[in-house]
Order: sequence, then C-alpha cells, then structure tokens
Amino acid sequence: MSARVISSISELRETLAPCRQAGEVIGLVPTMGALHEGHGRLIGQAVRDSGCVVVSVFVNPIQFNDQQDYRLYPRSLDADVEFCERRGAAIVFAPAVEEMYPRPLKSSVEVAGLTERLCGEFRPGHFRGVATVVLKLLQIVQPERAYFGEKDAQQLAVIRRMVADLNVPVTIVGVATVREPDGLALSSRNRRLSAAERELAPVFFRALEAARKRIASGERDAAAVKQAALAVLEQPGIRVEYLEIVDPDEMQPAPAIEGRVLVAGAIWLGSTRLIDNLICEPG
Ligand code: PAF
Repeated sequence: MSARVISSISELRETLAPCRQAGEVIGLVPTMGALHEGHGRLIGQAVRDSGCVVVSVFVNPIQFNDQQDYRLYPRSLDADVEFCERRGAAIVFAPAVEEMYPRPLKSSVEVAGLTERLCGEFRPGHFRGVATVVLKLLQIVQPERAYFGEKDAQQLAVIRRMVADLNVPVTIVGVATVREPDGLALSSRNRRLSAAERELAPVFFRALEAARKRIASGERDAAAVKQAALAVLEQPGIRVEYLEIVDPDEMQPAPAIEGRVLVAGAIWLGSTRLIDNLICEPG
C-alpha cells in the first residue's frame, strides 16, 4: 500500500473528510521522523485499531531547548515514508515549520506539576513545546485514537493529563518500549552513538533492572533503590543527568515505595542524551 504524503493542513483535512464521513476510525501516530521499530510498533498498533492511520513527521522546533540538538536531530523523510508504507499507514503528514507555525506563537499549553521534574528540570520549556504541538496535531487530524511510546513516560503522562484537563475527544494509547536484544531502548538518538558508546549503552537498562529487582525483592526505601541503580551506572563514559523514582501518573517523587512506581532516568554518553524507564511493582 502506498502512503500519501501531505504537507498542507487544508489538504490533510480534505483527505480525511471522506474517511470520517464513512465512519472510519482515524488513528494518529505523532513522530519526529527517523523512524525505527519503536515507531513501527506504534504504527502497527494503530493499523490494527483504525481504518485510516496518519503518521505525522515533524521535527518540532519549539520542544528543543538546545538549537544544536534541533539542527542535529536526524531527518530522513524518504526512508520514513517507505517505513510507513510497509506498515500500512495511509497518510504521512509532513508539514514545514511555516505550515505549523505561520506566525509567532502567542498561545501554548502548560501542564503544571507534571513537568517540573525529571526531563522537565533539565529541558526548560520542552514539555510546553510537546503539549502545544500535540494539541495542534490533535486539532488538525481529529483522530479517535493517538499513539505514544511508553519510553517517553513523562511525555505520555503529560499528554494524558492535557487531554483529560482540556476535554480533547481522543483516546491516548500508550505502547510498550521496544528494546534491542541487549536491553537498549530503541531511539532515534541511538544513531548518534559511536561504536564504543553503543557498547556501553545497555548499562542503562541494567541499572533500571537493578532497581526493579530491589523493589521486587521488597525494598521500600526509594533512596536505597536509587543508590543500587546509580552504582550500576558508575562507569567511565557515562554521565547521569537524573535518576528518579516517581508516581507514574503525577511524576512526583515517591520516597517510600508502596505501589507501582516509575524508575526513570536520563544519561549522557558523550554528546548523546538517552532516556529510559521501567514501571516497577513492589514484591
Ligand atoms: O515523541 C516525539 O517524537 C515527540 O515529542 C512528539 C510527541 C512527536 C511531539 O513532537
């Protein structure tokens, strides 16, 4: 099946109108491109659930707090379109920056309380940029369902909260993280790792697993769990940005582990920043 590539909002709306009139379920998979098997799982789930799947490919400038990071973000539209086609997505929506932001933006979405910690602490304005572009995409496509990866757990919590608070008529579907056989979570940023960094990278998952095991074996003290994970990450070549144990919905620190918690972190390998997380249940 060939995917239709659309870059204008009005053309996208015109294309979707007959699908909507025919009562087809429209599914949206928002991405920034450089698609990998993690996105493949989102698209696959959307294709199973919906009559018409739109994959948006847009490197959103307003969610980058670092212009260098924005410039270096991998872009590969032709390969992304082929990837979407192979998985049965009907439409790739790939707007230019001017189409999404034709004038200086005076309105934005702030999801207070969920965005100050974890990634939000180190990437000021990032979640405002994410929530704003996701709301715009939801308004443009008006899907029944929208799919997001659990690897970006804080992003998923922020989007769920925004949609609930603002009564956006869409179901948000979280899809499990896809990992390499050695545990490294798939990410577009993995392409930037050198061979040596790639070899070191699975330590991140091992650290999260160490936390999970401590929690499963009955440890209730979050500080002790965190220490166990940090000990695994103490390796030359790794800089830990944060590692936190939080409530999975509110993203607030859980000093004592009494129920499900999210162990989430960000590390730097050279100039590449990776994030990952695991949901952990007390034993
Ligand atoms: O997860 C991403 O790729 C982006 O943050 C998203 C949701 C597409 C918004 O730009």
